Amino acid sequence: MSHLITFEGIDGSGKSTQVTRVEKWLREEGYDVLLTREPGGSELGEAIRSILLDHKWSMMHGRTEFLLYSASRAQMVEEIVKPHLKKPNGIVLIDRYDDSSTAYQGGGRKLGIDAVETVNHFATDNLTPDLTFVLDVDWETSRARLSSSRTDPDRLENNPRDFFERTRQAYHDLCTRYPDRMRLIDATESPDEVYNKIVLHLNKLL
Ligand code: TYD
Repeated sequence: MSHLITFEGIDGSGKSTQVTRVEKWLREEGYDVLLTREPGGSELGEAIRSILLDHKWSMMHGRTEFLLYSASRAQMVEEIVKPHLKKPNGIVLIDRYDDSSTAYQGGGRKLGIDAVETVNHFATDNLTPDLTFVLDVDWETSRARLSSSRTDPDRLENNPRDFFERTRQAYHDLCTRYPDRMRLIDATESPDEVYNKIVLHLNKLL
């Protein structure tokens, strides 16, 4: 049986570290694992990613931003995700998926949760993850991690604090709305503790 598992959280939540560890573990367990990321994943998606993160487009409207993320996602779903899920034992791990749009564009940019979810369903052709981890950190922790790991913030990371507070709140609301699929994980703990919690949930699913 194949599975789609996604990782979410505000910038600096540590999800990329965790998804890489999970990928390694699942490969060792014998699964056919594909790890991809959003925005990007496909060649066309990576081209869209470079537009989205470029400071040159500081005037980009929230709806334009949302539709570009959705365009990148639609391509990734068709070109990469669906074919892999047809494989026996296939697992697709995605570093961000449509909940990122719901939280960042719906919550952070205030485009509205329901409007964003309607377009998400269209862009993904209704392909919903089996399990979604939301790695939860407060804004201070997020900033501290970003400033110690990187020197050059991208266009999205330059947003003010209240943008990230709204985005984080939207993730919390989504976890309440979809308790069967979504797991809110306290990601202020050590990477090992966070990883162990993720593995516990994955063992239940697999
Ligand atoms: P990403 O490369 O995952 O950043 P990080 O590794 O720092 O988490 O994502 C790039 C940015 O794009 C990030 O700030 C979140 C944002 N984003 C959205 O606003 N909406 C979306 O739908 C997606 C997929 C990402």
